[in-house]
Amino acid sequence: MAENAQYDICVMGLGYIGLPTAAMLSTSGAMVLGVDTNASVVDTVGRGDIHIEEPGLKMIVHAAIGSGRLRTAVAAGPADVFIIAVPTPITPDKHADMACVVGAAEAIVPHLRAGNLVILESTSPPGTCADLVRPILEKSGLKVGESLYLAHCPERVLPGRILAELIANDRVIGGFDRASAERARAVYARFVDGEIFLTDTTTAEMVKIIENTYRDVNIALANETALICEKLGIDFWDVARYANRHPRVQLHHAGPGVGGHCISVDPWFLVERFPEDTPIIGLARQRNDAMPAHVVDKILEIVGDRPNPVIAALGLAYKGNVDDLRESPALEVVRLLREKNCEVRVHDPLVKHAPFEVLPLEACLRNADCAVILTAHDAYAQLDPAWAATLMCDRNVYDTHHLIDCNAWRGAGFNVLLHGSGKPRNIVNYKQQ
Ligand SMILES: NC(=O)c1ccc[n+]([C@@H]2O[C@H](COP(=O)([O-])OP(=O)(O)OC[C@H]3O[C@@H](n4cnc5c(N)ncnc54)[C@H](O)[C@@H]3O)[C@@H](O)[C@H]2O)c1
Repeated sequence: MAENAQYDICVMGLGYIGLPTAAMLSTSGAMVLGVDTNASVVDTVGRGDIHIEEPGLKMIVHAAIGSGRLRTAVAAGPADVFIIAVPTPITPDKHADMACVVGAAEAIVPHLRAGNLVILESTSPPGTCADLVRPILEKSGLKVGESLYLAHCPERVLPGRILAELIANDRVIGGFDRASAERARAVYARFVDGEIFLTDTTTAEMVKIIENTYRDVNIALANETALICEKLGIDFWDVARYANRHPRVQLHHAGPGVGGHCISVDPWFLVERFPEDTPIIGLARQRNDAMPAHVVDKILEIVGDRPNPVIAALGLAYKGNVDDLRESPALEVVRLLREKNCEVRVHDPLVKHAPFEVLPLEACLRNADCAVILTAHDAYAQLDPAWAATLMCDRNVYDTHHLIDCNAWRGAGFNVLLHGSGKPRNIVNYKQQ
């Protein structure tokens, strides 16, 4: 295709969301331009390769590039539809950082023509389409609602299952007006099997944020329950198992904290804008953010007064079976342990690029005083305790995810600590299996 070719769809941002979406759209027959400001991403994808780990993604990107219906570039070009799928992180002082959305919206302004549709996919604070994106697009001289269409179509896929969920999940599309919503529906109907619901942009923005806030608040409740169980000398996992037999209760999983680009970030968008109305949401965030420090306290209890204990940190990614490090509580655990003069050796079977050295499993465990499972990777559930016992200096394992078979590890001579599980006190300790 020539330099200034007209594409059907231009996708801004080729990350976990933009790249699968671009590949899926091109597979559906659209001519797609995938744009990323990171030249190495553009090169990698342009060769039909991928720069992130996601099952099945390499195959469809390779096919899309091979078919000629997916091209990549560092700059936007003319298209009928523009999809913005760039990061929306928070600043260290917990404000929504909309710089990438602003940058992407500004970059498409010179290419806008009457009749174009712009879809914001990035998770954004309620009001972003109307108050931030619309004025930028109108710098083109075109008016949203008259000669331009604008919609928000938030993404709710689960990393590790992105391709399947892109197709199967229901979508909520918020249009600046009905015509915008209908046009956006036609774009997603190319590959979405789930039901598509149409609403206004601010409702769609709020739906996405509250989905993640719901998860965050419920995880905070689980974590708080786990801390109480530790003090009571009972097992959180038993409590959760039995409580969840109630037909209207779904206690979430406790763990070492909440990470990722979504759940640990999006609730702040509400706290920032409505500080007086969000005490529960704000406290839940603080509870989850405090969990890494709790994990560190537990590890220090395990290793006692040993000087410079060696800790094998198993897992860096923010959740199991993905390579994503963003906001990972494991990073914070490692940082805090090093602050406490621990020698921390890190392993993760999936993470390729980390802020510190990632070792092979054997080197990580060798001579360790305590192994701590920080990420629920399947590989750790299968770890052989007898093999680990031959490597480690002291047989201590701390499972922050209820991942390992505690009895098997105890059988191999390990002192096992399970997150949310306290030492039995003055109770008759029997368990119905
Ligand atoms: N990752 C998820 O599981 C997930 C799920 C639901 C929603 N979201 C939301 O989707 C959005 C994108 O997230 P992601 O995980 O794909 O991010 P990502 O960091 O994986 O990818 C974003 C890409 O955008 C590029 N970029 C930044 N500014 C740009 C610009 N101005 N023009 C073009 N490219 C630019 C970056 O170089 C990067 O490659 C975020 O708002 C996120 O909250 C993510």
